Amino acid sequence: MASIEFVNVTKEFDKKEIIKDLNLKIEDGTFTVLVGPSGCGKTTLLRMIAGIGPQTSGAVLIDGKDVTDIAPGKRGVAMVFQNYAIYPTMSVRENIEFGLKNNKVKKAERTELVESISAAVGLTDFLDRKPSTLSGGQRQRIALARAMVKKPSVFLMDEPLSNLDAKLRAQMRIDLIELHKKLGTTFVYVTHDQVEAMSMADTIVLMNQGLIQQEAPPETIYHEPSNIFVAQFIGVPPMNIDELGVGGVKFGFRPESAIGSTEAGTTPFSIRGEVVTREMLGSETLYKINYKDTSFMIKSLEDRFTVNQQVYVSVPTEKMYFFGEDGNRIPTSHPSYSSYIEALRSY
Ligand SMILES: Nc1ncnc2c1ncn2[C@@H]1O[C@H](COP(=O)(O)OP(=O)(O)OP(=O)(O)O)[C@@H](O)[C@H]1O
Ligand SMILES: [Mg+2]
Repeated sequence: MASIEFVNVTKEFDKKEIIKDLNLKIEDGTFTVLVGPSGCGKTTLLRMIAGIGPQTSGAVLIDGKDVTDIAPGKRGVAMVFQNYAIYPTMSVRENIEFGLKNNKVKKAERTELVESISAAVGLTDFLDRKPSTLSGGQRQRIALARAMVKKPSVFLMDEPLSNLDAKLRAQMRIDLIELHKKLGTTFVYVTHDQVEAMSMADTIVLMNQGLIQQEAPPETIYHEPSNIFVAQFIGVPPMNIDELGVGGVKFGFRPESAIGSTEAGTTPFSIRGEVVTREMLGSETLYKINYKDTSFMIKSLEDRFTVNQQVYVSVPTEKMYFFGEDGNRIPTSHPSYSSYIEALRSY
């Protein structure tokens, strides 16, 4: 097991700074998910930990030790990539065993390791099959098992589930949570999928353009986003945001916080708009509501409105967010907070 720390780390490609003065500590034994849009630098960070794409300046520490001069194979780190390479001519067992043989691990120990790890990832019944006879999810498990047999103290995963269909991804998310619990190893998991981040992480590190936007547990990221970017990156559909009309301040509310009704609401934010689209998703229904020259998404557990219907939308005050001109969330303790709430009445 190990902690990982970035200290004033920058990374340039062709003189362009991709990672800007990054400071981050990933605690020992945690399941940390790095999430952010494509190109924000997630893979670049993982590669620095693994030692296969060193930083331009600053230091990367594993368990408090600067690993700049330590070779990738000596860092106690295993990495599973999005496009894992599985040897098609070898059986599942041989694929998992491969690295161990290379490292001259004895036969008896190899067999025991392969069997215990296979059981952990649910491959016991497939050990003698060829990868081509397995499903995508089962093949993904081979890649996991192959990394696990090395008994790494840090497990790096770069979008390992992106090749799987939605149902398998959901299953593998649960499997990975259980696996992490069983192993107790530090997991650093990269994804651009916010659902994966929310469901698996103890800590989410949300990045944009090489900068950390927020580092917090999923519930904090969701309920107390530090800025508009975070507020709109996490949550489906994203948080509704519009100008308050006071000093460059914006207000925001989540689709699930809005209350749609045929009767006028009594909260400061209460508008009357028109349903323009209805998406019935099974357990909930999404409506797009047009209001003046803008629109809001609202989510309802009941499917009760129809397209073209006039509805009232209100939002409980405690579910309302405000953001300053710089995009940062304004805390409820701000001296003007109550005046922002009042301003919602004339929206
Ligand atoms: N070897 C390289 N040479 C030049 N630029 C690079 C190199 N590797 C990455 N980059 C650039 O660095 C930035 C970050 O890349 P990175 O692969 O870390 O993004 P990412 O967050 O993993 O994105 P994705 O979600 O698409 O995988 C991108 O703008 C990318 O074009
Ligand atoms: Mg990437």
